[in-house]
Amino acid sequence: MAECDGIKESNKGIPKGWMIFYISLIVWLLWYIYSYTPEISGWSQYKVFEEEMKKVAKVPAVIPTENPYEHNEKAIAEGKGIYMANCAVCHGDDLKGGVGPDLTGHLKLGETDDAKFKTIAEGTSSGMPPFIDQLGRDRIWKVLAYVDSVREYGKQP
Ligand code: HEC
Repeated sequence: MAECDGIKESNKGIPKGWMIFYISLIVWLLWYIYSYTPEISGWSQYKVFEEEMKKVAKVPAVIPTENPYEHNEKAIAEGKGIYMANCAVCHGDDLKGGVGPDLTGHLKLGETDDAKFKTIAEGTSSGMPPFIDQLGRDRIWKVLAYVDSVREYGKQP
């Protein structure tokens, strides 16, 4: 023990609490480096992202049962473009049919908004292709708003 002018210097070492804290910090640091270094643990933000997306995909789809774009002129105009690009080849420029049935008359697969949405989204086994991947929900509602503006509200195609 060093002593100078009666003042003692005592070396009691680092306080226990600090030592525990210090060691835990190092352990945590090593764990952190280990866990989040892709080369060591294989952790990857892409993997995390994909897992999150898988979780979301499992949540049952909440499909609105009414067309949110009904009477929305801007959406109807956009829907017309989508129709001309994707549907007119089979259903005709005037919606009166061709390879596919007339869309201005009775729809045997259902005339409620959600039935029509389902037909367009999922397609059928007899010739109607599914459009959910290609268009997504939002644009299906828009193209449907266009179809309905003609079939239900007498708009010129
Ligand atoms: C490759 C040709 C083809 C394309 C492209 C196509 N359809 Fe069809 N669609 C059909 C056929 C064929 C049917 C009849 C299916 C059946 O009876 O099962 C049909 C059925 C439908 C029906 C239901 C008709 C009823 O009588 O119930 C709707 C609504 C419809 N299509 C909308 C669309 C829309 C909107 C698009 C564009 C996004 C589209 N279709 C693109 C061929 C097509």
